[in-house]
Amino acid sequence: MSILATPLPKVYDNAADFMPLLGTDYIEFYVSNSKQAAHYYKSALGFKSLAYSGLETGNRDYESYVVEQDKIKFVFTSPLKSGTDVGRHIDKHGDGVKVTALWVPDATKAYEEAIKRGAKSYMEPQREEDETGFVVRSGIFSYGEVVHIFVERNEYNGVFLPGFRKWETPHYNPKSTGLKYVDHMVGNVELGNMDKMVKFYEEVLGFAQILSFDDKDISTEYTALMSKVMSNGNGRIKFPINEPAEGLKKSQVDEYLEFYEGEGVQHVAMATDNIIETVTELRSRGVEFLNIPTTYYDVLEDRVGPIDEDIQPLKDLGILVDRDEEGYLLQIFTKTVQARPTMFFEIIQRKGAQSFGKGNFKALFEAIEREQELRGTL
Ligand code: FE2
Repeated sequence: MSILATPLPKVYDNAADFMPLLGTDYIEFYVSNSKQAAHYYKSALGFKSLAYSGLETGNRDYESYVVEQDKIKFVFTSPLKSGTDVGRHIDKHGDGVKVTALWVPDATKAYEEAIKRGAKSYMEPQREEDETGFVVRSGIFSYGEVVHIFVERNEYNGVFLPGFRKWETPHYNPKSTGLKYVDHMVGNVELGNMDKMVKFYEEVLGFAQILSFDDKDISTEYTALMSKVMSNGNGRIKFPINEPAEGLKKSQVDEYLEFYEGEGVQHVAMATDNIIETVTELRSRGVEFLNIPTTYYDVLEDRVGPIDEDIQPLKDLGILVDRDEEGYLLQIFTKTVQARPTMFFEIIQRKGAQSFGKGNFKALFEAIEREQELRGTL
């Protein structure tokens, strides 16, 4: 059964929340070639150049490129020499998400509250400054090697963070594809760890479980998984957590855990106001999406009721539609975006729905199984 475990409060009181989170500040990926990764995110996904850190800024160990699109900021970091923490992370996991940074009013208080409630420290609060002001950052571990960094930046006016300079690319600035903000970020954890992480987000960050999908909801003929959706009080941060379930064949979560060599971020969902335009543009720039069989669309309106969009463009592009109690949503998933079959992206447009439906899981899973089949990992 899918259940609405704890509906989000209609009126949210920031002051009453021990862990007020204002939004996703940035997501940092550890990658083997930050320069080329940043170019892909600009050319294919429509991000623009924002900031840079490396040899020219006095950073002898790492090079980082920061790109942005509306409220989304991605950082791509590569080591400049062997034997670094970042290099070890890439050797083990391949390219992937290391940091989900959360924008907070007070990074010292956020850290103290989290540690008091049992979080493992990644970085004690530190003040970082330059001529434009200062930030305070602190950090805690989540699942696997993923960390959350709390960023307090109300006294900072620089381009990104101290240590970075503006990255200017006067000759190459592809236009936006309409991506606006990070809607949610999903983690894959080992069998038995989903409830542990649910408890972590409840106790340490004050999140509530808003949805639960068991292996009856999320299964195909061959594979299954379980998922619980955690949200903070104002609904701006949503972290679904997946774990594998018994199935006849190896599920996508098993495949991820095998190739990532551990727990990590499975996908990052980015929101748009016009998914048809955004996906048309992304496709034309070479972004690859999972293929959905056209039979999915035969029963679409029976399943989700009337929607504003014409079915044909959704069918042409492979966009999925689902519904919750409050409205509907449109979503589509890219193929995995690095050498290993691990992380991918979701593009989502919400039309009233604040959480997730369960109707798309089967279509999504079968699409992923077809990819797994080709990889010989099913
Ligand atoms: Fe998602």
